[in-house]
Amino acid sequence: MKLEPKVVGVSGKGGVGKTSFLALTLKAILEKNTRHTILVVDADPDSNMPDVLGVDTTENIGLVVNELKEKIDKLPPDFGKAEYLEYKVFDVLYEGDKFDLLVMGAPEREGCYCLVNNLLMKIMDTLTKNYTLVLIDLPAGLEHISRRTSAHVDIMFLITDPSKMGIQTAARIKELAKTLHREFKKILLIINKASPETEEILKEHSKKFGLEYAGSVPVDEKLAEFNLRGVPLLELPDDSPAYIAVKKIVEETLPI
Ligand SMILES: Nc1ncnc2c1ncn2[C@@H]1O[C@H](COP(=O)(O)OP(=O)(O)OP(=O)(O)O)[C@@H](O)[C@H]1O
Ligand SMILES: [Mg+2]
Repeated sequence: MKLEPKVVGVSGKGGVGKTSFLALTLKAILEKNTRHTILVVDADPDSNMPDVLGVDTTENIGLVVNELKEKIDKLPPDFGKAEYLEYKVFDVLYEGDKFDLLVMGAPEREGCYCLVNNLLMKIMDTLTKNYTLVLIDLPAGLEHISRRTSAHVDIMFLITDPSKMGIQTAARIKELAKTLHREFKKILLIINKASPETEEILKEHSKKFGLEYAGSVPVDEKLAEFNLRGVPLLELPDDSPAYIAVKKIVEETLPI
């Protein structure tokens, strides 16, 4: 029986730790040695997942789409745009031993080229069906929800840091998703860079906002240091406090 792909996303205010959380989620899944086939999608235009995962690539879908849009008017009518785009998507896709990575890249240029966008959505739908687990790093804030640029997500981790703005953004994302009938089967709140004191306050807030709390990740100096040094987070030691916390959350919430 073929497993239904499970799409896991991270969202939240800028700089709260979305990318770090997703990278450590991947590390935890890989360590479990599950039979999952994994696709990581970097959907943040300001992409940094390749660095964080130690993948050497500069290619992205944005560049391909922009290139196609530029020449679309000059192409002969019988030019197979769908085939071309599909070929290019697979060209951009990084295929590793343990996971694949697709970088979405820069935002589109001005103007509506709905044809290209629709084609891309279809290709993305087909592509994600090739995997049993898809991890998406979404851009900060709410815009991706209202613009419906993000694909369908089953489990959405809303990340907050210990700040009122962080949890307010998380609450807004949840509300907006509801208003726009975006279906996230599960929305879970993660408190990052928490101390015991701030964690308690944020847990109270999360109840008030109707957010389901799934766990906290402590401040981890090694994580910050790895980030500064440009060392991939997959290499973070197994006993690092942030990794231990993320691993527990992953084991409790994801189908691994
Ligand atoms: N638990 C943690 N302990 C220490 N530092 C952390 C922790 N989580 C994240 N950081 C640091 O915080 C900074 C922001 O993290 P990260 O890039 O993961 O956030 P982000 O939400 O993805 O940001 P953006 O909105 O810009 O995409 C990085 O320098 C990272 O190393
Ligand atoms: Mg990020």
